[in-house]
Amino acid sequence: MTSVRIGTVYLIGAGPGDPDLLTVRAARVLGRCDVVLYDRLVSSGVLALAKPDAELIFVGKHEGQQEPVQSKIFSLILDRALSGKTVARLKGGDPLVFGRGAEEWALAVERGIPVEFIPGVTSAISVPGLAGIPLTHREISQSFTVITGHCSQGLQQDWSRYARIDTLVVLMGVKNRAFIAQALIEAGRDAHQPVAFIEHGATPAQRVVISDLQSVARGHVDVGNPAVFVIGEVVGLREKLAAISDSKNLTEELFV
Ligand SMILES: C[S@@+](CC[C@H](N)C(=O)[O-])C[C@H]1O[C@@H](n2cnc3c(N)ncnc32)[C@H](O)[C@@H]1O
Repeated sequence: MTSVRIGTVYLIGAGPGDPDLLTVRAARVLGRCDVVLYDRLVSSGVLALAKPDAELIFVGKHEGQQEPVQSKIFSLILDRALSGKTVARLKGGDPLVFGRGAEEWALAVERGIPVEFIPGVTSAISVPGLAGIPLTHREISQSFTVITGHCSQGLQQDWSRYARIDTLVVLMGVKNRAFIAQALIEAGRDAHQPVAFIEHGATPAQRVVISDLQSVARGHVDVGNPAVFVIGEVVGLREKLAAISDSKNLTEELFV
């Protein structure tokens, strides 16, 4: 009796969009996987690095259908790996930052499937950086915190925890931006503190919106998905740092 070899699952970070921001290991492994399961935020430039005859399967989620799609992802991983295929599970940014990567990793391990984790460049740090906004700075920010602005249980949490963090980065925060800004102000954060939204970071469609917390709370700031929402004095550094950067990083709108 012949036994089928089990394929390895590579849990790969696709970075924020630009394929040049993939790790060398990610690009190499992607080029030899049989199956690629990819999310909504994985760019076409990254997918172009897959093996020409690889099976590419889109498994992005829309709001409200997270759980059915997640079950489908689990089944596809098991099916393809147990039939001997090498699987790339490609996720935007870093797979372990708000990406449910750890759940997929655990599932594969439980079924005896070998997994290799290949870290990615997370949007939480790289997208602000590409827009000239460093999350730390010796004089004005000694720490940063990354939180989700989307929560299936609602956003009822202790916002005073985040009111005092030097730099606060919110992922998935576009829809609830006014609620988040208001909650932070009520918890004691300065309403005049500068904020930035960087939409479609690290892509040709990048757009940077600069405002303040109060304007966001009042619903005056127009912004679309995906975007990284940065709150803190470091936002003010963009004026200097991005002044003579590549023009693709300079599309900017001001709402104050
Ligand atoms: C489900 S989270 C996944 C984060 C991802 N694992 C990472 O490390 O970047 C998706 C959120 O990441 C942010 N995001 C990811 N890529 C982005 C990009 N290129 N530009 C702006 N925001 C991005 C947005 O806040 C988006 O709603």
